[in-house]
Amino acid sequence: MLYRRLGASGLPLSVLSFGAWATFGVHVGRGVARELVAMAWDHGINFFDNAETYANGEGERVMGDVLADLRLPRDGWCVSSKAYFGAVDAPRPTQRGLSRKHLRDACDAALRRLRVDYLDLYFCHRPDPEVPVEEIVTTMDLLVRQGKVLYWGTSEWPAERIAEACALARAHGLQAPVAEQPQYNLLERRRVEAEYAPLYAQYGLGTTIFSPLASGLLTGKYNAGVPADSRLGREGYTWLQRNLDAARRQALQRFAAVAGELGVAPAPLAIAWCLRNPHVSSVLLGASTPEQLAQNLHALQVHAQLDEAAWERVEACFAPLSGEGA
Ligand SMILES: NC(=O)c1ccc[n+]([C@@H]2O[C@H](COP(=O)([O-])OP(=O)(O)OC[C@H]3O[C@@H](n4cnc5c(N)ncnc54)[C@H](OP(=O)(O)O)[C@@H]3O)[C@@H](O)[C@H]2O)c1
Repeated sequence: MLYRRLGASGLPLSVLSFGAWATFGVHVGRGVARELVAMAWDHGINFFDNAETYANGEGERVMGDVLADLRLPRDGWCVSSKAYFGAVDAPRPTQRGLSRKHLRDACDAALRRLRVDYLDLYFCHRPDPEVPVEEIVTTMDLLVRQGKVLYWGTSEWPAERIAEACALARAHGLQAPVAEQPQYNLLERRRVEAEYAPLYAQYGLGTTIFSPLASGLLTGKYNAGVPADSRLGREGYTWLQRNLDAARRQALQRFAAVAGELGVAPAPLAIAWCLRNPHVSSVLLGASTPEQLAQNLHALQVHAQLDEAAWERVEACFAPLSGEGA
C-alpha cells in the first residue's frame, strides 16, 4: 500500500480506501462485509468511508459492528461519516441539512452506529445554501474542539463555497475543511481537474475521490447489457443508466479493448488512472464481493507498471467525450 497525506493536513491515508455506499446494509450481507473489511485491512487500507444516509444508518451499523468484531486497533484505521441527507425516509427539517443542530445530532448518531469515540473525518455531504457558511464552519470547529471529530471536509461543494469556508476559518483561527470528496473517474474529470485546481495550492485541499469505476461502468460489465445482479440492474439505481449514452458506450468499449491489449482488467486500470493525479489523496473503492475487491486492489501494481505511452492510449479512448465533463 502507498500512503498520502490528506492535502496539507498531517493525516496519512492509504491511497486506496474502502466505502460502504450501496452495499453494506443493502445487498451485501454481514459475513461478506466482514470479509471485505478484513481484506482491505490486510492490504493496508486504513480509511473506511460512511455516511448517515447509507441504507438509512444501517451501512454505518454494519461497518461499526464489523470493525469492532475484527478487533482492529483503533489507532490503525480512520473512519468517516457524512451529514446532509438524513438517516430516515422523509426526514423532518431538523433531521437533514447542515444546520448546527443537524450536524451535531448526526455526528452523535454516527459515533453510536460506528461504535467509536471520535470520527477521523466528518463531511458535509452536499452544500446547503440555506445555512450560512459561518454556522457550518463554527459548528465543525466546535466538534473538533470537543474531540468528536478530528478533520472535516465537504463533498460535491462548488469551489467558491469551499474557498469561502477556508477563508473564513483562516481569518478567525478556526478549523478549516481539509478535504473535498468529489466524484472522479475517466468519465467525470472536470471538477477535480479544473474547478478545484486553485484550491489545492491556495488552501492545501486534499481529496478522497469517489466512484472511481463510475459505479461499475468502467469495469466493462455493462458493455453487453445490464446484468440483473449489478448496481445498474438493481431497483433504485436505474438513474445511473442515464450515464450510458451512445458516445459513452463507445468510449467504454474502446477502453475495454485497450485494457485487453495492455493485459490488465478494466477495473484496476481505471482505478490506477485516478492514482496518477497528485491531488487525489485517496481513491474510495466500492465492492460487492471479495473477488471484486481483490481485482481492484491490483490497481497498485498497474499504477507501478504502466508507462506514459500506455496512459496516452487510455486517455485517447475518452478524448471524444472531452466536451461533456470528461
Ligand atoms: N460523497 C459522495 O457523495 C459519494 C457518492 C458515491 C460514493 N461515495 C463513496 O465512495 C465509495 C465508492 O464509490 P462507488 O461504490 O460508487 O465506487 P465504484 O468503484 O465506482 O463502484 C463500485 C461498484 O462497482 C461494482 N464493482 C466494483 N468492482 C468491480 C469489479 N472489479 N468488477 C465488476 N464490478 C465491480 C460493484 O457494484 P455491483 O456489484 O453492485 O455492480 C461495486 O459496488 C462509496 O462506497 C462511498 O463510500 C461517496
